[in-house]
Amino acid sequence: MRKMAVAMAKGGVGKTTTAVNLAHGLASRGQRVLLVDCDTQGQVARFLGVKPSWGLYEFITERRPDGKAMSRNDAVFPARENLWILDGGIRLVELKNWLGEQPRQMRQTVLAHKLVPRQGALDFLIFDCAPGWDVLSVNILMAADEVLCPVALQGPALQGLKTFFRYLQSAQKLNPDLRLNYVLPTMYDRRTRHSQDVFEQLKKYFNRQLCNPINYNVRLCEAPAHGKSIFEYAASARGARDYRNLVERILNHGHRQERHT
Ligand SMILES: Nc1ncnc2c1ncn2[C@@H]1O[C@H](COP(=O)(O)OP(=O)(O)O)[C@@H](O)[C@H]1O
Ligand SMILES: [Mg+2]
Repeated sequence: MRKMAVAMAKGGVGKTTTAVNLAHGLASRGQRVLLVDCDTQGQVARFLGVKPSWGLYEFITERRPDGKAMSRNDAVFPARENLWILDGGIRLVELKNWLGEQPRQMRQTVLAHKLVPRQGALDFLIFDCAPGWDVLSVNILMAADEVLCPVALQGPALQGLKTFFRYLQSAQKLNPDLRLNYVLPTMYDRRTRHSQDVFEQLKKYFNRQLCNPINYNVRLCEAPAHGKSIFEYAASARGARDYRNLVERILNHGHRQERHT
């Protein structure tokens, strides 16, 4: 099973768009995927047009908010064929408090220990991360072994990358298996000089990890309002083509990328 965190220190760069479309794209290719929403904004369920009653909080604590015990499996919501989600949202604030109360030596690895599916039950575990750095982000980077980092080629694009690499390096000290395998340029607009310039810079630094860019595509903004992935909403749109391309790369090029140091 591959365990991939879609992470970046900055918000609004296309993390959730990537996590959702990548997860659904992989699921459509017959891969069994669990998508974990690690953001208090809880956008994953909205993007997929579903309303799970329970989520990551209940999965980890094995408790409902009213304190009643519940089985972990009940927290996993089937969102599509081959695609399950663990919902995020505001209850993750409680989860972070709960994690903070765990004994120091195990606090950072609770997620890694609890998220162990039955042998062969899943092909991909994908984490949609929040922009900040807290006890939950650390837990994700302890549970994952690959990182996919979206970089928006708009505005101050490289801002946030440096901070993110500091996070990543401190996480790698605790989890030496963690690799930055994919740097994904998003919101690419080939007509602007800025997009081109940033893309060239990324090429210099991340030759091996750099993926083909995801173009700026208005269909990608519209799809979540309909509760659909891009493949359901506009299968022939450029955004769908770009994400299909990413799915192929991830399926075909597996673990060939090197570690960022
Ligand atoms: N390639 C793209 N083209 C156009 N809009 C995009 C693209 N990727 C993401 N968006 C839009 O940008 C906004 C932020 O994306 P989102 O995936 O929520 O970012 P993050 O999870 O990093 O905060 C959303 O409204 C989303 O629909
Ligand atoms: Mg998000």
